[in-house]
Amino acid sequence: MSIRNLDDLLAEGVSGRRVLVRADLNVPLDKQTGEITDDGRIRAVLPTLSALVQAGARVVVCSHLGRPKGTPDPQFSLRPVAGRLGELLNAPVRFAEDTVGDSARSTVDGLADGQVALLENLRFNKGETSKDDAERGAFADQLAALGEAYVDDAFGAVHRKHASVYDVPGRLPHFAGRLVLREVEVLSKLTRDPERPYVVVLGGSKVSDKLAVIEALLPKVDRLLIGGGMCFTFLKARGLEVGSSLLEEEMVETCRNLMEREPGKIMLPVDVVAAVAFAPDAEHDTVRVDGIPSKRVGLDIGPETVAGFAAALKQARTVFWNGPMGVFEMPAFANGTCGVAEAIAKAGAFSVVGGGDSAAAVRTLGLDESAFDHISTGGGASLEYLEGQTLPGIAALEN
Ligand code: 3PG
Ligand code: MG
Repeated sequence: MSIRNLDDLLAEGVSGRRVLVRADLNVPLDKQTGEITDDGRIRAVLPTLSALVQAGARVVVCSHLGRPKGTPDPQFSLRPVAGRLGELLNAPVRFAEDTVGDSARSTVDGLADGQVALLENLRFNKGETSKDDAERGAFADQLAALGEAYVDDAFGAVHRKHASVYDVPGRLPHFAGRLVLREVEVLSKLTRDPERPYVVVLGGSKVSDKLAVIEALLPKVDRLLIGGGMCFTFLKARGLEVGSSLLEEEMVETCRNLMEREPGKIMLPVDVVAAVAFAPDAEHDTVRVDGIPSKRVGLDIGPETVAGFAAALKQARTVFWNGPMGVFEMPAFANGTCGVAEAIAKAGAFSVVGGGDSAAAVRTLGLDESAFDHISTGGGASLEYLEGQTLPGIAALEN
């Protein structure tokens, strides 16, 4: 891989130079208070930012947050992130009220060596996500004008063909940041030559979202453990009734084919927690998977399943986990996710947690992050990497 990285840029010398850093500061915000509920993605980009600050660069950080529709929308402002970033860097972060307008230009012009600015949400501009190359290119021109070199540390967004990820590196000398390097290093280890047994745990609500990664991983893994909402479509494919649990009828046949293709590799729950409704206080019981009552909805895997999964994980030398085992946001249905996370932490295998919900689960459930070898900041990005897809943001760095 012929990607230049942050060390190459630092070796050139960055003192007094404007360095544009694409970060993924798309952090979850509390719907009521607007407060940041998990700052993992902000912390993950600190090594790159601190190195640039120390080297005297004028650091211009840009990011998206949420999915605004190409115009400013206050609920998706990055302002609270600027505050948190400043606390973590222990230095003020200047916030620009727009992304490439007057405020951005004057904020960047006012930076002294070693100072940091954060631009407003990239997705407040149509050009960022446009499918039209010219429209994206025009926005990339404006963004690139704010920097003299470009560092991509937004691993969570490298699977997006967006202006700040895909087009800007074609306009400036470009480098991979520390986080992007580490993510690629770890994930490439999983795709090349994982130590065996290699056990993958997948959860989340839909089979259709995970089908591509299941197809890609199934031939490579020794065991594939399936929990979360998507297990019910697999259970149905095994001929079981799943009550009112989440079911993708149109995927049942596909699930049956997957299980027939590699007999014995896919491990499904043997018991689930079935509730009378999808609610935090809903009455619920643990039931066997061949006895799910018709009006009940499965919201978590059961304790016997956790024990079975834990036994498989104990043997593993490499583990990849993506997707919660149940509705972990509701304490009554968090035991499966907790139990599997603890089993992975204890397993002694090289363990990687794929981003998004599972990374948030590790932190919100108060589990020890250091028990895992790597917690990816990319949900979609890490899955697409494991599928073997070309990631636009990585491809752009290679050129
Ligand atoms: C994520 O949260 O998955 C990344 O920040 C990318 O966001 P997106 O899915 O809205 O492109
Ligand atoms: Mg996403």
